[in-house]
Amino acid sequence: MAAAARRGPVPGGEKRILCVGLVCLDIINVVEAYPSEDSDIRCMSQRWQRGGNASNSCTVLALLGAPCAFMGSLATGPAADFVLADLRRYGVDVAHVVPQPTSCLPTSIVIASASRGTRTILHACGNLQDVTARDFEQVDLSQYKWIHWEARNAAEQAVMMQRVEQHNRARPPEDRVRTSVELEKPREEHLLLMGLGDVVFISKDLAQHFGYRSAPEALQGLRSRVQPGATLICAWAEEGADAIGPGGELVHSDAFPPETLVDTLGAGDTFNAAVIFALSAGKTLQDAITFGCRIAGRKCGIQGFDGIV
Ligand code: ADP
Ligand code: FRU
Repeated sequence: MAAAARRGPVPGGEKRILCVGLVCLDIINVVEAYPSEDSDIRCMSQRWQRGGNASNSCTVLALLGAPCAFMGSLATGPAADFVLADLRRYGVDVAHVVPQPTSCLPTSIVIASASRGTRTILHACGNLQDVTARDFEQVDLSQYKWIHWEARNAAEQAVMMQRVEQHNRARPPEDRVRTSVELEKPREEHLLLMGLGDVVFISKDLAQHFGYRSAPEALQGLRSRVQPGATLICAWAEEGADAIGPGGELVHSDAFPPETLVDTLGAGDTFNAAVIFALSAGKTLQDAITFGCRIAGRKCGIQGFDGIV
């Protein structure tokens, strides 16, 4: 599939989608059943895979045929070379990758249970500093139609988002850069980003942390935190996803369960990418979340991402 993804210069000057966030190494151990503590078991398979929410979303955008770019910090060393080569293999533009020669690449050990489709992630962040608002000043905003942030160093990311807001103020609607942000981890400091994007994705984890028991409940409870005219989207695993649009309209899509649940690692990143892909192509919110669930459902039926389209 990677060979089908776009490479090199953007054809006909088509604007790209930029994802800002984490790239890491995922060491995925597929096991028949989740192991018990202090056991000694054999894996069905084991593989290295490029990971990180923003990086996974780039993989999916590339597979869907959208010209896209990744911005994030990258350590040096063999594992970092592996993830960089893999971004390139999918045709993801890496011009805004910021090298961090003295850091270690963040790495996740993933235990993927074949019998239940669960993914347990043990993540080591290393000592990698995230990209800053200063790094983001190097980005030529006129090349992008959409910029997506995975919430991480929120104070810096807020300055990046404000730069885009300011850029947009002086431009006609067709030249504006649309923005989205994903809040996945329930961290207080990330909440300020909810008031900044045109589209805000919140995870089931975050919603549950706030005490909500369903996606519609979370949307109703948290909608006052997004800016007027913004869209709030909440995916809820096998229950699909719900969203509330700029005019307050509520939409829902059921999930599209695969015949066999194989691998849910990156299902949320896949959903986000597919929704961004659809919205940036002018689809309605209903169509976009339905497309997001359809592509995320396909991802859950395969190992990795190749084969989602
Ligand atoms: P995350 O990977 O961030 O935990 P979710 O589990 O909420 O994200 O899943 C995101 C989307 O992926 C859901 O909206 C749904 O469409 C799809 N999905 C996740 N798990 C399943 C599943 N077991 N069956 C079908 N679709 C799923
Ligand atoms: C999946 C993922 C993995 C990574 C982890 C980081 O959503 O991005 O690829 O190891 O989350 O939290």
